[in-house]
Amino acid sequence: MRVVAVISPKGGVGKTTVTANLAVSLQRLGGKVTVVDLDPQNALRLHFGMAHDDPLGIASENLPNNQWQYALMESRYGVDFLPYGIVNERQRDRFEQAIKANPDWLLMHLNSLGLGETDVVLIDTPPGPGIYLQQVLRIANIGIVILKPDAASYSTVPAIESLIAHYTKDRRDFLGHCYVLNQMDASKQLNRDVFGMLRAQLGSRFVPSAIHRDEAVSEALACQSPVSYYAQYSSATHDVQYLSNWIQQNFGLVD
Ligand SMILES: Nc1ncnc2c1ncn2[C@@H]1O[C@H](COP(=O)(O)OP(=O)(O)OP(=O)(O)O)[C@@H](O)[C@H]1O
Ligand SMILES: [Mg+2]
Repeated sequence: MRVVAVISPKGGVGKTTVTANLAVSLQRLGGKVTVVDLDPQNALRLHFGMAHDDPLGIASENLPNNQWQYALMESRYGVDFLPYGIVNERQRDRFEQAIKANPDWLLMHLNSLGLGETDVVLIDTPPGPGIYLQQVLRIANIGIVILKPDAASYSTVPAIESLIAHYTKDRRDFLGHCYVLNQMDASKQLNRDVFGMLRAQLGSRFVPSAIHRDEAVSEALACQSPVSYYAQYSSATHDVQYLSNWIQQNFGLVD
Protein backbone atom coordinates (compact mmCIF):
# COMPACT_ATOMS: atom_id res chain seq x y z
CA MET A 1 0.00 0.00 0.00
CA ARG A 2 1.33 3.42 -0.95
CA VAL A 3 -0.27 6.26 0.94
CA VAL A 4 -0.50 9.68 -0.68
CA ALA A 5 -1.56 12.61 1.54
CA VAL A 6 -3.24 15.52 -0.22
CA ILE A 7 -2.89 18.51 2.07
CA SER A 8 -2.98 22.30 2.15
CA PRO A 9 -2.38 24.99 4.71
CA LYS A 10 -5.45 26.92 3.50
CA GLY A 11 -9.02 25.97 2.68
CA GLY A 12 -10.71 26.05 -0.70
CA VAL A 13 -7.55 25.61 -2.75
CA GLY A 14 -8.72 22.43 -4.48
CA LYS A 15 -7.57 19.45 -2.37
CA THR A 16 -10.78 17.50 -2.81
CA THR A 17 -10.98 18.29 -6.52
CA VAL A 18 -7.37 17.28 -7.12
CA THR A 19 -7.69 14.13 -4.99
CA ALA A 20 -10.70 12.86 -6.94
CA ASN A 21 -9.39 13.71 -10.39
CA LEU A 22 -5.81 12.63 -9.75
CA ALA A 23 -7.11 9.28 -8.45
CA VAL A 24 -8.94 8.65 -11.73
CA SER A 25 -5.88 9.66 -13.73
CA LEU A 26 -3.47 7.50 -11.68
CA GLN A 27 -5.81 4.56 -11.97
CA ARG A 28 -5.63 4.89 -15.76
CA LEU A 29 -1.86 4.49 -15.52
CA GLY A 30 -2.57 0.97 -14.38
CA GLY A 31 -2.73 0.90 -10.60
CA LYS A 32 -5.53 0.10 -8.19
CA VAL A 33 -6.45 3.36 -6.49
CA THR A 34 -8.61 3.91 -3.41
CA VAL A 35 -9.48 7.36 -2.11
CA VAL A 36 -10.29 8.15 1.51
CA ASP A 37 -12.16 11.24 2.69
CA LEU A 38 -10.78 12.34 6.06
CA ASP A 39 -12.65 15.64 5.97
CA PRO A 40 -15.94 16.04 7.88
CA GLN A 41 -17.20 18.16 4.95
CA ASN A 42 -17.71 14.76 3.24
CA ALA A 43 -17.40 16.28 -0.24
CA LEU A 44 -15.07 13.84 -2.01
CA ARG A 45 -17.91 11.38 -2.67
CA LEU A 46 -19.73 13.98 -4.78
CA HIS A 47 -17.04 13.69 -7.47
CA PHE A 48 -17.91 9.99 -7.76
CA GLY A 49 -21.68 10.24 -8.03
CA MET A 50 -22.71 9.19 -4.51
CA ALA A 51 -26.23 10.31 -3.55
CA HIS A 52 -26.26 13.53 -1.47
CA ASP A 53 -28.44 12.00 1.24
CA ASP A 54 -26.56 8.69 1.58
CA PRO A 55 -25.10 8.84 5.11
CA LEU A 56 -22.62 5.94 4.77
CA GLY A 57 -18.99 6.59 5.59
CA ILE A 58 -16.05 5.84 7.86
CA ALA A 59 -17.50 8.01 10.64
CA SER A 60 -20.82 6.12 10.60
CA GLU A 61 -21.51 4.52 13.97
CA ASN A 62 -23.35 1.55 12.51
CA LEU A 63 -20.48 -0.04 10.53
CA PRO A 64 -20.39 -3.72 11.58
CA ASN A 65 -17.38 -4.17 13.92
CA ASN A 66 -16.37 -0.66 12.92
CA GLN A 67 -14.86 -2.15 9.75
CA TRP A 68 -14.09 0.30 6.95
CA GLN A 69 -14.73 -2.29 4.28
CA TYR A 70 -18.47 -1.84 4.94
CA ALA A 71 -18.17 1.81 3.93
CA LEU A 72 -16.06 1.13 0.82
CA MET A 73 -17.85 2.19 -2.36
CA GLU A 74 -17.05 1.20 -5.93
CA SER A 75 -17.30 4.12 -8.33
CA ARG A 76 -18.10 3.66 -11.99
CA TYR A 77 -14.74 5.26 -12.78
CA GLY A 78 -12.60 2.35 -11.56
CA VAL A 79 -11.61 4.08 -8.33
CA ASP A 80 -12.92 2.81 -4.96
CA PHE A 81 -13.73 5.43 -2.36
CA LEU A 82 -14.37 5.70 1.36
CA PRO A 83 -16.66 8.64 2.16
CA TYR A 84 -16.42 10.38 5.54
CA GLY A 85 -20.14 9.93 6.16
CA ILE A 86 -22.95 12.15 7.39
CA VAL A 87 -22.80 12.45 11.17
CA ASN A 88 -24.14 14.88 13.77
CA GLU A 89 -21.92 16.91 16.09
CA ARG A 90 -22.09 14.39 18.93
CA GLN A 91 -21.15 11.51 16.65
CA ARG A 92 -18.31 13.47 15.09
CA ASP A 93 -16.99 14.32 18.52
CA ARG A 94 -16.98 10.64 19.54
CA PHE A 95 -15.30 9.71 16.26
CA GLU A 96 -12.57 12.29 16.80
CA GLN A 97 -12.03 11.21 20.43
CA ALA A 98 -11.33 7.69 19.14
CA ILE A 99 -8.82 9.06 16.63
CA LYS A 100 -7.05 11.11 19.30
CA ALA A 101 -6.79 8.07 21.55
CA ASN A 102 -4.99 5.94 18.96
CA PRO A 103 -1.97 7.23 17.00
CA ASP A 104 -2.24 4.17 14.74
CA TRP A 105 -5.95 4.63 14.02
CA LEU A 106 -5.54 5.32 10.30
CA LEU A 107 -2.91 2.66 9.67
CA MET A 108 -5.01 0.06 11.47
CA HIS A 109 -8.08 0.80 9.34
CA LEU A 110 -6.15 0.95 6.07
CA ASN A 111 -4.49 -2.39 6.87
CA SER A 112 -7.91 -3.92 7.41
CA LEU A 113 -8.83 -3.24 3.77
CA GLY A 114 -6.44 -5.95 2.58
CA LEU A 115 -4.91 -3.82 -0.17
CA GLY A 116 -1.91 -5.05 -2.14
CA GLU A 117 1.64 -3.81 -1.63
CA THR A 118 1.55 -1.61 -4.72
CA ASP A 119 -2.05 -0.36 -4.42
CA VAL A 120 -2.34 3.39 -4.04
CA VAL A 121 -4.40 5.14 -1.35
CA LEU A 122 -5.04 8.85 -1.87
CA ILE A 123 -6.24 10.68 1.22
CA ASP A 124 -8.13 13.99 1.21
CA THR A 125 -7.74 16.09 4.36
CA PRO A 126 -9.28 19.19 5.94
CA PRO A 127 -7.24 22.41 5.58
CA GLY A 128 -4.48 23.22 8.04
CA PRO A 129 -3.13 21.24 11.00
CA GLY A 130 -5.33 18.95 13.09
CA ILE A 131 -5.93 15.36 14.11
CA TYR A 132 -6.71 14.10 10.61
CA LEU A 133 -3.56 15.62 9.14
CA GLN A 134 -1.46 14.19 11.97
CA GLN A 135 -2.77 10.68 11.30
CA VAL A 136 -2.07 10.99 7.56
CA LEU A 137 1.38 12.53 7.83
CA ARG A 138 2.50 9.82 10.28
CA ILE A 139 2.05 7.14 7.62
CA ALA A 140 2.12 8.92 4.24
CA ASN A 141 4.70 7.76 1.69
CA ILE A 142 4.16 10.86 -0.44
CA GLY A 143 2.75 14.33 0.32
CA ILE A 144 1.06 16.52 -2.26
CA VAL A 145 0.58 20.11 -1.13
CA ILE A 146 -2.01 22.12 -3.04
CA LEU A 147 -1.60 25.89 -3.28
CA LYS A 148 -3.43 28.69 -5.06
CA PRO A 149 -1.48 31.33 -6.97
CA ASP A 150 -1.97 34.09 -4.41
CA ALA A 151 0.11 35.81 -1.75
CA ALA A 152 -1.70 34.03 1.10
CA SER A 153 -0.78 30.57 -0.20
CA TYR A 154 2.79 31.64 -0.87
CA SER A 155 3.25 32.84 2.69
CA THR A 156 2.16 29.49 4.15
CA VAL A 157 4.98 27.47 2.60
CA PRO A 158 7.45 27.68 5.56
CA ALA A 159 4.78 26.46 8.01
CA ILE A 160 3.77 23.52 5.84
CA GLU A 161 7.44 22.62 5.26
CA SER A 162 8.10 22.39 8.99
CA LEU A 163 4.89 20.45 9.59
CA ILE A 164 5.85 17.85 6.98
CA ALA A 165 9.41 17.67 8.31
CA HIS A 166 8.09 17.14 11.84
CA TYR A 167 6.13 14.02 10.90
CA THR A 168 8.41 12.53 8.26
CA LYS A 169 12.03 13.41 9.06
CA ASP A 170 13.21 10.03 10.34
CA ARG A 171 10.95 7.91 8.20
CA ARG A 172 12.75 5.91 5.51
CA ASP A 173 9.41 5.02 3.94
CA PHE A 174 8.65 8.68 3.19
CA LEU A 175 9.53 9.21 -0.48
CA GLY A 176 9.04 12.97 -0.49
CA HIS A 177 6.52 15.70 -1.13
CA CYS A 178 5.69 18.14 -3.90
CA TYR A 179 3.71 21.33 -4.42
CA VAL A 180 0.96 21.74 -7.00
CA LEU A 181 -0.39 25.11 -8.04
CA ASN A 182 -4.12 24.88 -8.73
CA GLN A 183 -6.59 27.40 -10.20
CA MET A 184 -3.84 29.08 -12.22
CA ASP A 185 -4.98 31.95 -14.44
CA ALA A 186 -2.04 32.72 -16.73
CA SER A 187 -3.70 35.96 -17.91
CA LYS A 188 -3.11 37.46 -14.44
CA GLN A 189 0.28 38.94 -13.61
CA LEU A 190 0.01 38.03 -9.93
CA ASN A 191 -0.64 34.38 -10.82
CA ARG A 192 2.42 34.32 -13.06
CA ASP A 193 4.53 36.02 -10.38
CA VAL A 194 3.53 33.54 -7.68
CA PHE A 195 4.22 30.67 -10.08
CA GLY A 196 7.75 32.01 -10.73
CA MET A 197 8.46 32.68 -7.04
CA LEU A 198 7.33 29.19 -5.99
CA ARG A 199 9.36 27.55 -8.72
CA ALA A 200 12.46 29.48 -7.63
CA GLN A 201 11.90 28.76 -3.94
CA LEU A 202 10.86 25.10 -4.15
CA GLY A 203 12.96 23.87 -7.05
CA SER A 204 12.40 20.19 -7.81
CA ARG A 205 9.59 19.96 -5.23
CA PHE A 206 7.46 22.26 -7.39
CA VAL A 207 5.43 20.52 -10.09
CA PRO A 208 6.51 22.63 -13.06
CA SER A 209 3.10 22.85 -14.74
CA ALA A 210 0.06 24.15 -12.85
CA ILE A 211 -3.56 23.04 -12.98
CA HIS A 212 -5.40 25.89 -14.65
CA ARG A 213 -8.61 27.47 -13.47
CA ASP A 214 -11.15 25.85 -15.74
CA GLU A 215 -14.94 26.05 -15.73
CA ALA A 216 -15.05 22.36 -16.68
CA VAL A 217 -13.89 21.52 -13.12
CA SER A 218 -16.93 23.01 -11.39
CA GLU A 219 -19.27 21.84 -14.15
CA ALA A 220 -17.95 18.29 -13.76
CA LEU A 221 -18.60 18.48 -10.01
CA ALA A 222 -22.14 19.71 -10.64
CA CYS A 223 -22.60 16.59 -12.79
CA GLN A 224 -20.96 14.46 -10.06
CA SER A 225 -18.32 13.25 -12.46
CA PRO A 226 -14.52 13.40 -12.70
CA VAL A 227 -13.46 16.12 -15.13
CA SER A 228 -11.78 13.67 -17.51
CA TYR A 229 -15.17 12.00 -18.08
CA TYR A 230 -17.09 15.26 -18.25
CA ALA A 231 -14.66 17.13 -20.53
CA GLN A 232 -12.03 14.84 -21.98
CA TYR A 233 -10.22 17.58 -23.91
CA SER A 234 -10.41 20.36 -21.30
CA SER A 235 -7.29 22.06 -20.01
CA ALA A 236 -7.99 20.74 -16.49
CA THR A 237 -8.09 17.15 -17.79
CA HIS A 238 -4.78 17.73 -19.56
CA ASP A 239 -3.24 19.34 -16.45
CA VAL A 240 -4.31 16.51 -14.14
CA GLN A 241 -2.86 14.00 -16.60
CA TYR A 242 0.39 15.92 -16.55
CA LEU A 243 0.36 15.80 -12.75
CA SER A 244 -0.22 12.06 -12.60
CA ASN A 245 2.60 11.45 -15.09
CA TRP A 246 4.90 13.75 -13.13
CA ILE A 247 4.12 11.94 -9.88
CA GLN A 248 4.66 8.61 -11.57
CA GLN A 249 8.03 9.71 -12.95
CA ASN A 250 9.21 11.28 -9.71
CA PHE A 251 7.90 8.79 -7.16
CA GLY A 252 7.22 5.63 -9.22
CA LEU A 253 3.82 5.33 -7.59
CA VAL A 254 1.96 3.00 -9.93
CA ASP A 255 3.45 -0.37 -10.91
N1 LIG B 1 -8.74 24.05 -11.38
C1 LIG B 1 -9.93 24.54 -11.01
N2 LIG B 1 -10.66 25.30 -11.85
C2 LIG B 1 -11.86 25.81 -11.49
N3 LIG B 1 -12.42 25.61 -10.29
C3 LIG B 1 -11.75 24.86 -9.39
C4 LIG B 1 -10.47 24.28 -9.70
N4 LIG B 1 -10.05 23.59 -8.60
C5 LIG B 1 -11.02 23.72 -7.67
N5 LIG B 1 -12.03 24.47 -8.12
C6 LIG B 1 -13.26 24.87 -7.40
O1 LIG B 1 -12.83 25.51 -6.20
C7 LIG B 1 -13.69 25.18 -5.12
C8 LIG B 1 -12.88 24.59 -3.99
O2 LIG B 1 -12.35 23.34 -4.41
P1 LIG B 1 -12.20 22.13 -3.37
O3 LIG B 1 -13.46 21.91 -2.62
O4 LIG B 1 -11.63 20.99 -4.11
O5 LIG B 1 -11.11 22.75 -2.38
P2 LIG B 1 -10.60 22.16 -1.00
O6 LIG B 1 -9.19 22.58 -0.86
O7 LIG B 1 -10.89 20.72 -0.93
O8 LIG B 1 -11.53 22.95 0.03
P3 LIG B 1 -11.65 22.67 1.60
O9 LIG B 1 -10.40 23.24 2.21
O10 LIG B 1 -12.88 23.39 2.00
O11 LIG B 1 -11.71 21.18 1.78
C9 LIG B 1 -14.73 24.22 -5.69
O12 LIG B 1 -15.88 24.95 -6.02
C10 LIG B 1 -14.07 23.67 -6.95
O13 LIG B 1 -15.01 23.29 -7.94
MG1 LIG C 1 -11.90 19.63 0.52
